[in-house]
Amino acid sequence: MSEKLLEVKDLKVYFEMKKGFAQSLFGKPEVLKAVDGVSFSLDKGEILSLVGESGSGKTTTAKAILQLVPVTGGSVVFNGEEIVGKKDLSEFRKKAQMIYQDPYQSLNPRQYISDIVGEPLMVNELVSTIEERDERIREALEEAALVPPEDYWFRRPFELSGGQRQRAAIAGSLIMKPDLVAADEPVSMLDASIRTGIIDFMLKERDLKGVAYLFITHDLSLAWLISDKIAIMYLGKIMEIGSAADIVKNAKHPYTKALLDIMPIPGKTLTGKRKILEGETPNASSEIRGCKFCGRCPYVMGICKETEPEYIEVSPGHQVYCHRMKEETEDE
Ligand SMILES: Nc1ncnc2c1ncn2[C@@H]1O[C@H](COP(=O)(O)OP(=O)(O)O)[C@@H](O)[C@H]1O
Ligand SMILES: [Mg+2]
Repeated sequence: MSEKLLEVKDLKVYFEMKKGFAQSLFGKPEVLKAVDGVSFSLDKGEILSLVGESGSGKTTTAKAILQLVPVTGGSVVFNGEEIVGKKDLSEFRKKAQMIYQDPYQSLNPRQYISDIVGEPLMVNELVSTIEERDERIREALEEAALVPPEDYWFRRPFELSGGQRQRAAIAGSLIMKPDLVAADEPVSMLDASIRTGIIDFMLKERDLKGVAYLFITHDLSLAWLISDKIAIMYLGKIMEIGSAADIVKNAKHPYTKALLDIMPIPGKTLTGKRKILEGETPNASSEIRGCKFCGRCPYVMGICKETEPEYIEVSPGHQVYCHRMKEETEDE
């Protein structure tokens, strides 16, 4: 039996744009809906990928779940406990970690790698002696293939390659034995040749320790390779969510289909029928009454511009944000 780790319901993060056009005209602050009603759940040890173009709200969703940005609305239940609005987040912070795209942002350039990796243990008083701390650091570095650990102990981030730095950052998160790691494009700045090693390292930690990942990527083929579930995001909203196979083999939403059309699949020659969506992604601050995708949808209908769709469950766990699904299910 799988055990539920995380339940996100109707999560919203709105940013008030300070001196926006609307404000200067009407005295009303312009609101940017970075995350606008995101819901999903994650079991222990599961991997869910959030996939979408730049600006679709992936990073903000992860930060909102980890309580790193103010949440406008909705609920985040972690290990059975509501996290939104909780005053003391110290236990939650140990169990839910974030890995960033650029480890330069998260690693203190003046610290030694051993201190970076071991610091969370000291801060959270998870070890009582220096020997115990050093042993845990040695283990973590070995798991991250930064071996022999002694060679990395007194090095600083700039003395490591990009891939080694990301391994150190991941080791520093995993040393806390978290239940959840939100990994925000963790390999997209790295050479293709070293990506696989880092992904394998993360997957091995899942297999060994049951850590669940919220994996953020714009790369649908990578998501397909590693995920149990995939959620396709557009303008702060999940367009379609389901098992990796539901999304890649049985996509229903026109946006998912468009992403699949341009996804390189090993062994598959592209047919030349590539359908690339026309138009630009509108800004998340523009006022959209109906479906978030209606401005770019090739099948747009009258209702799409008026009313926001509800999620239609087309098969267990496979949900689609699209009015056309309703018609399809009603026709049956
Ligand atoms: N702190 C912030 N203040 C104002 N707008 C923000 C802030 N963070 C993100 N945004 C906006 O929210 C939207 C979603 O951003 P983000 O979550 O970073 O998307 P993604 O990770 O998918 O590229 C974008 O329009 C972005 O400009
Ligand atoms: Mg991002």
